[in-house]
Amino acid sequence: MKNTRANAVYRRVVASAPGKITLFGEHAVVYGKPAIVTAISRRIRVSVERRMEGIIISSGDLTVRGVEVVMGRGSVEARVHAEHAARLLSYVSTALRMVEEKLGTRADGLRVSISSDMPVSAGLGTSASVSVATIAAYMKLLGYEPMREEVARLGYMVEKTVQGAASPMDTAAASHGGMLLVEPWANPPYKPLRTASPGLPVIIGYIARSATTGELVANVRRLRDRYESIVDMVMETIAEITREAVKALLQGDLESLGLLMNMNHELLSVLGVSTPRLDELVNLARSSGALGAKLTGAGGGGAFIALCRSRDDAMQVARSIKAGGASVIEASLGAKGVVVEEAK
Ligand code: PMV
Repeated sequence: MKNTRANAVYRRVVASAPGKITLFGEHAVVYGKPAIVTAISRRIRVSVERRMEGIIISSGDLTVRGVEVVMGRGSVEARVHAEHAARLLSYVSTALRMVEEKLGTRADGLRVSISSDMPVSAGLGTSASVSVATIAAYMKLLGYEPMREEVARLGYMVEKTVQGAASPMDTAAASHGGMLLVEPWANPPYKPLRTASPGLPVIIGYIARSATTGELVANVRRLRDRYESIVDMVMETIAEITREAVKALLQGDLESLGLLMNMNHELLSVLGVSTPRLDELVNLARSSGALGAKLTGAGGGGAFIALCRSRDDAMQVARSIKAGGASVIEASLGAKGVVVEEAK
């Protein structure tokens, strides 16, 4: 995707961006440590269409009940049916504003419609997907080719503005797709990880989540305020696990990856972001044949992953965790990043 001004401006643009799972390093990445993230084949679609005036944002299909908000430039009328869906709207409106500030232009009025084929607020990076898809669609509508690096940068600004604290991880995965090594100190803060194990047999499960990413990140911050050196050692140990995991991924060494996942999960428990229910399901996955399992994302419930030796083992683990009360999300790893699907 190029960033030059295109000749055409459009009436309606649809863009989609993938969700993600963090294989290693969540939370530690907020403290500048490396993480490994991969896009998954579940996407959020955002359609942006011109209208005469005012902004309407609606989400009919967010796996939770939907929401409709009617915004004039100065007024907001909201019909909010679900807290999770409502949270997504602040990402959309902030993304629209960031694009307008960046490009110095705007549409008179807009109808923005969001749909998702994955659960929102489960730890799959849906807030980043919605931000990134909105940015790409709106840039294109205004006549600019959305360049992935720029979309990732703006998306990261949206996440920081809405959440207070964030790492560049989720928006990088939503923009670029594939598997990425996130290095918050580098510029850009991520690079593609071309591994010997592109089709990792990973099962993604999820349960209801009791806290938001912002709350969980704040809890870890409070723990660190109290026990700084202990928490810093935990973060550094997670960083070392991630560095070992890069080697194991490059060698296609599934058994080491499983062990490293188990260690990473226990350290996330030490940080207080796991829950008894998540621990139970992670243990269930391990005892039904997974090489390793861990929570993924911010924790507090939400998503978890289990790495298996083969597709057959993965099916067995999926059956067990379903019987244990979790939902399973069928998805492949390394999906493509943000795409403009339609422009007319
Ligand atoms: O649960 P999610 O998808 O919001 O992922 C959060 C990952 C954290 O590392 C906890 C926060 C971040 O911004 O990286």
